[in-house]
Amino acid sequence: MEHRTLGESDIKVSELAFGAWAIGGWQWGGTDSKDAVNAIETAVDHGMTTIDTAAVYGFGLSEELVGKAIRGKRDKVQILTKFGLTWGEKKGEFFFASQDNSGKDVDIYKYSSKAKVISDCDQSLKRLGTDFIDLYQIHWPDQTTPVSETMEAIEYLVKKGKIRAGAVCNYPQQLMIEAGKTYRIASNQVPYSMVNRSIENDIVPYCVNNNIGILAYSPLQRGLLTGKIKHGHVFNEGDTRPGTIYYREPNFSRIMKLIENLSEIAAGLNVTLSQLVLNWTLRQPGITCALAGARNADQVLENVRAADFKLNNEEIARINKYLTDLKLETKI
Ligand SMILES: NC(=O)c1ccc[n+]([C@@H]2O[C@H](COP(=O)([O-])OP(=O)(O)OC[C@H]3O[C@@H](n4cnc5c(N)ncnc54)[C@H](OP(=O)(O)O)[C@@H]3O)[C@@H](O)[C@H]2O)c1
Repeated sequence: MEHRTLGESDIKVSELAFGAWAIGGWQWGGTDSKDAVNAIETAVDHGMTTIDTAAVYGFGLSEELVGKAIRGKRDKVQILTKFGLTWGEKKGEFFFASQDNSGKDVDIYKYSSKAKVISDCDQSLKRLGTDFIDLYQIHWPDQTTPVSETMEAIEYLVKKGKIRAGAVCNYPQQLMIEAGKTYRIASNQVPYSMVNRSIENDIVPYCVNNNIGILAYSPLQRGLLTGKIKHGHVFNEGDTRPGTIYYREPNFSRIMKLIENLSEIAAGLNVTLSQLVLNWTLRQPGITCALAGARNADQVLENVRAADFKLNNEEIARINKYLTDLKLETKI
């Protein structure tokens, strides 16, 4: 597994990182803690040494599971976590209403004031069982706090040695420019998959031109591009995937056809569909790292092997032809 530097920071991340959203259970129909810890341990043992989590994933549960899995291995891993999505207090910008893992109503706010970021960092450190975070990222922009204030909080935490570097997620180009006036962000974490390539229009060129790393999230489109989800798939209660645009017609059938075509290419290369999809993601311009979520050790073992081969230009072109032909509706 190759390790790549994030922007101008001194953080090196594994090209495939472990995404720890699903193991928090929230928005994914629950979790199995034992499988989750095993999955992270397996990832680290196989060179996927970077783990991406967030305070809000399972309302602290994901960070706790990460902390459990990395105990005694802190020097071998890079911990990426996030702040700025809050629950339990009504401050900042209302984001959406949800339910926690036990079905209790919970309102999510975007809130990244300086004091909040600094105190949330201590909470994350505690849950992760560590005294420093490698990369501390704002989860979503917060319109109620000046970007400069949030970036000042990051600078403060770097000075205190609590974080090695700061970064952003879901930031449009304009906000990256704004953030850059106060702090040199290491990366932007953004959605990117074969069926969601909108960042190629402006985020990718801006990041490439300004040496800002890109962490691609949901590269398997939350499991859809593994090929395991077919018509009539039954999701657990609380799993938000079926409510997304990819599951509505005509999109779902078009994606199923794409999967059929890509599976043929994968079979010809003797790799699995997930491995083909992750490898393609890593080969795209500007992408520093693909964050691959996984629930258990088997999924991790399959995913880590996506870094063992390199699609050649001809194979990439064949895949891209299918992707260019794929037309998805954005308003249905
Ligand atoms: N910054 C943000 O706003 C943001 C947003 C989204 C994600 N992220 C980060 O990006 C990470 C990755 O994205 P993601 O978790 O949304 O989606 P993803 O990586 O595209 O998909 C993860 C899901 O795919 C399935 N899967 C993975 N490997 C598999 C395999 N080999 N075989 C069969 N199924 C497999 C699992 O689904 P099942 O659960 O059905 O088994 C897993 O939970 C997240 O964990 C999180 O760290 C960040």
